[in-house]
Amino acid sequence: MRFLALKRGADEWVCEYIVGKINAFAPSAERPFVLGLPTGGTPLAVYQRLIEAYRQGRVSFKYVVTINMDEYLGLGAEHPQSYRYFMQENFFKWVDILPENTHIPDGLAEDVEAEAKRYEQLIADLGGVQLFFGGVGSDGHVAFNEAGSSLGSRTRVKTLTRQTLADNARFFDSMEEVPKYALTVGIETIMQAREVLILAKGLAKALAVEQAVEGAVNALWPITRFQCHERFILVCDEAAAGELKFKTLRYFASTEGQINPQLREDLLCYSED
Ligand code: GLP
Repeated sequence: MRFLALKRGADEWVCEYIVGKINAFAPSAERPFVLGLPTGGTPLAVYQRLIEAYRQGRVSFKYVVTINMDEYLGLGAEHPQSYRYFMQENFFKWVDILPENTHIPDGLAEDVEAEAKRYEQLIADLGGVQLFFGGVGSDGHVAFNEAGSSLGSRTRVKTLTRQTLADNARFFDSMEEVPKYALTVGIETIMQAREVLILAKGLAKALAVEQAVEGAVNALWPITRFQCHERFILVCDEAAAGELKFKTLRYFASTEGQINPQLREDLLCYSED
């Protein structure tokens, strides 16, 4: 696992990492780059930076295929709180991605089991996800894999917890309006990606980050499963690092500072000793 706790520049680091990966892959029509994407408040600043990088001509999404993590059950593309709508408004419509290359589970599917299977098959047909970018819930959930989700799960319907309904109620008029179910990729679906990159920002994520870095693999904190991934990168800001031990922070900072001397000033608890 690679862990960066940054005093500043977490969004920028994540944006540049994604840009670097797409460009290094040199995608083409025959060999597109498959990118997994999240919704939520956390990735917004990364999307803004990616749009800016596109405008500067530093990256193109023409040969990028996206796989979104999840969608609320019962919300269609026109609903302002659907994740399809979110992606359209906050990212897709501002870059050169082809609409047919953007994939999100269908929240209005009549047969949700068939839709879940179709989504898994789609990912397999694309040759798998190169890089799955995600956020994390305050209770350690990733996508809508709530606490207690099977760590071997695939795309399916999940019932959302009270905590998630409460956390996401800010986007709706009231908690009652938040859909109770969602279609979500599973933890194992994300595990199959070549790389997993999770961004955590703010004090509300500090316990999830603590578990992800210092905790044991445990279904009650789904994010911990990624400790078993060959290429897992966790990036957080200073607030989200607030529950970690000083020695943990110093350990990861000194390793990262050796690889990336230019990052030393931004790494929390970096020291030369
Ligand atoms: C929702 C999404 C997750 C997201 C989480 C945290 O539950 N399904 O993918 O990571 O919210 O959202 P935020 O970034 O707004 O804190």
